[in-house]
Amino acid sequence: MDNKKVIEVLNKALTEELTALVQYMQHHYLYKGSNAESVKVLLKKLSFTEMDHAYKLGDRIAALGGMPTTRPNPPEVPKKGVDMIKVNLKAEQDAVVSYREWIKIVDAEGDPTSRNILEGFLADEEEHVAELAALLGD
Ligand SMILES: [Fe+2]
Ligand SMILES: [Fe+2]
Repeated sequence: MDNKKVIEVLNKALTEELTALVQYMQHHYLYKGSNAESVKVLLKKLSFTEMDHAYKLGDRIAALGGMPTTRPNPPEVPKKGVDMIKVNLKAEQDAVVSYREWIKIVDAEGDPTSRNILEGFLADEEEHVAELAALLGD
């Protein structure tokens, strides 16, 4: 098993999770629009899931002898509430595509433990897509 390749993939995932965490937090603070109270609750709940994903990735990277990244990408923060939902929906759809790819890579590297972790996240991201799409009435 090539730890270096797996660590690189897990750190890419960690960057995306940290970005999602920060973005959901910022959207939770700033969201205005219809059903603001319930949307803010959902955004906060999503941020906790992304933080849990980040912790699990960081722990796994450290267990493999790597250094977990601490850097998110800059969050997207649109002005309108409906646009916040849209950028998060797109980000979650992208996460689903990325996790499917990352699962294949860590599997090919012979790391079923990392594969299991990422499969759990994939299921969560699919659920996030559904929750955000429901808000838009899609
Ligand atoms: Fe996540
Ligand atoms: Fe998510």
